Amino acid sequence: MELIKEIKTMQKISQKEALGNKTIGFVPTMGYLHEGHLQLVEKAVEDNDTTVVSIFVNPTQFGPEEDYEEYPRDLKRDLDLLRERKVDYVFYPAVEDVYPEGYATYVQVEKGTDVLCGRSRPNHFKGVTTVVSKLFNMVRPHRAYFGQKDGQQLLIIRRMVDDLNMDIEVVACPTVREEGGLAMSSRNKYLSPEEREAALVINQTLQKAREWIEKGERDGWEVKKKMEREIKAEPLATLDYASVVSRENLQELGEIKGPIMIAIAAFIGSTRLIDNVWLEVN
Ligand code: PAF
Repeated sequence: MELIKEIKTMQKISQKEALGNKTIGFVPTMGYLHEGHLQLVEKAVEDNDTTVVSIFVNPTQFGPEEDYEEYPRDLKRDLDLLRERKVDYVFYPAVEDVYPEGYATYVQVEKGTDVLCGRSRPNHFKGVTTVVSKLFNMVRPHRAYFGQKDGQQLLIIRRMVDDLNMDIEVVACPTVREEGGLAMSSRNKYLSPEEREAALVINQTLQKAREWIEKGERDGWEVKKKMEREIKAEPLATLDYASVVSRENLQELGEIKGPIMIAIAAFIGSTRLIDNVWLEVN
């Protein structure tokens, strides 16, 4: 496994692999890897000739009051985990190379980015789509792997890839959960034992919503109201949103129908957690 820090070197390697007709699988991450990331990595290794994992904590997707500085980082541990998974290249560019002085170009998906997480994190998805397109230009992958846990991010990246005719297959991988059902996230590290217990309310509420819908409930506002009530009943939780949206356009649904995503974001103590469930409803 090779650690690549220079953007030009990464591009040269990708070019060489492509000339040798090798498929490149790419897993973009912000590091501090957990089992959720590692399952994306294993799938990429399985599907492709060459696997590249990037580790880059992207400043443009954090708001001014958010945890960019404190975001957990542990390069040595990440490299050990990736070496065990037989990754070929770890791409670890410097912030000043990705965003040099005078940097002025952003990629913005104009629908579905101002709802759900986009409402409380106004420039978040602009930062995500910008860095993901830049990383795609640096790594030039055939396939890119994203977790379903960041459901809105995944759907927005798919939109960007389609709209900009990027010749990349976006592969969605299922959410990996801890015992008890809490979705794995690098931010779970911030939770105290008591908060970790309280955080279970998020997945439990999603599972209840799934059951209500599977039993025939089709009123999106009713499901939303009942989910809000469940989260608010947990003393350590502060609700950001609980919504039933269409996976086609990320808009909230009055009538539940089609490919949907039930999504929740809540602060548990001061840690913001998100989770979602996907359903096909006739
Ligand atoms: O999901 C993440 O970790 C990040 O949003 C991503 C896709 C690596 C872009 O910085």
